[in-house]
Amino acid sequence: MTEKTQVCIIGAGPAGLLLGHLLRAEGVECVVLERQTPDYVLGRIRAGVLEQITVSLMERLGLDGRLKAEGLPHDGFNLADGERLIRIDIADLTGQHVVVYGQTELTRDLMDAREERGLEVIYEAADVALHDVEGDAPYVTFTKDGAQRRIDARFIAGCDGFHGPSRRAIPAGVGMEYEREYPFGWLGILADVPPCNHELIYANHERGFALASMRSATRSRYYVDVPLTEKLEDWPDERVWDELAIRLGPEAAAHITRGPSIEKSIAPLRSFVFAPMRHGSLLLCGDSAHIVPPTGAKGLNLAASDVHYAAEALIGFFKGKGGEAIAGYSDKALARVWKSERFSWSLTKLMHRFPDDGPFERAMQVAELDYIASSRAARTSIAENYVGLPV
Ligand code: APR
Ligand code: PHB
Repeated sequence: MTEKTQVCIIGAGPAGLLLGHLLRAEGVECVVLERQTPDYVLGRIRAGVLEQITVSLMERLGLDGRLKAEGLPHDGFNLADGERLIRIDIADLTGQHVVVYGQTELTRDLMDAREERGLEVIYEAADVALHDVEGDAPYVTFTKDGAQRRIDARFIAGCDGFHGPSRRAIPAGVGMEYEREYPFGWLGILADVPPCNHELIYANHERGFALASMRSATRSRYYVDVPLTEKLEDWPDERVWDELAIRLGPEAAAHITRGPSIEKSIAPLRSFVFAPMRHGSLLLCGDSAHIVPPTGAKGLNLAASDVHYAAEALIGFFKGKGGEAIAGYSDKALARVWKSERFSWSLTKLMHRFPDDGPFERAMQVAELDYIASSRAARTSIAENYVGLPV
């Protein structure tokens, strides 16, 4: 059975759902294909700092109700280096703020609105394969409830994350991969306890990195970096709490409330970019085209800016404005991607102890933190990257 649509979106994570809603809101026909079940997608614990672009897209869709009610506006964050806490006053330095709101909640808001907004999402779509992406009549095949299906589309949007099929549908030799893997992972713990600080704290301690974050006034999210050889079973909750108390410093430690983890996992860190982000009628958005280490909280927000550009180009095309914006999508998206990749990489380099680092590298970290502490210009640079560069 062959179905037809204007844009076939692969992946119902934040990128795919945001794009689908934006297209539907402007009358562009689309179908979203998702390999997993809704519960599986919602079961993923991800970061939770939203830049203005992400908030603006939810506002534009009128899906920002819960975000407005439950999101926590933050005017600053902190860099800790042993005893010292350096506050980056993003409101004073940029006139903007970020909003702390779990990615899972944003995905839930987008999922909950699909029926009311007429967004068709086919979950448990297996064996998704892309065909003829180089021409102007691409199609997607997949299996649903044992039945082979085909969707013909004018464009395919690959929003299927780092491990999805879209990037791999671009012939070898067309694109270029840029990658850096990091020699540590982040062990994250989620607990229903109040945060130790009203703002985020990123800490560079001689024992390693720590991050104190939150989901609400009663739910905290913490991380410590661990060697890639570490196993979760080597980290009972008490050991995580003990390590956090040391790495975050005495002031924060005095305000840590311990409690049982409701989620605990270790994730590797990677910087990755695939260019170009468009090939023929296939546009890549979000993690399918790039990955950032979570240090800068850029992953979701980069997916949002990609989707902003892709939606603008696709809506323009179907409103008869031609294909110029489609042709320019990759360059436009990559210009912002590369700047966020640089920020995430540089903050990771500044706030982590790398196994191969020697005294000189540590001295560079100390000097850079001293410079940030003493220079409004340095803090402004960090602040404008953290709140999100212009779209
Ligand atoms: N067929 C259909 N769907 C697929 C396939 C496939 N073969 N492979 C992957 N998917 C789905 C995944 O199940 C997932 O729901 O694509 C979706 C991709 O979603 P994400 O990985 O969340 O990527 P994205 O929407 O770009 O959001 C980026 O997610 O990984 C975090 O840190 C990242 O915060 C950033 C955000
Ligand atoms: C989180 O709250 O999960 C979080 C916050 C900031 C980051 C990474 C993760 O940089």
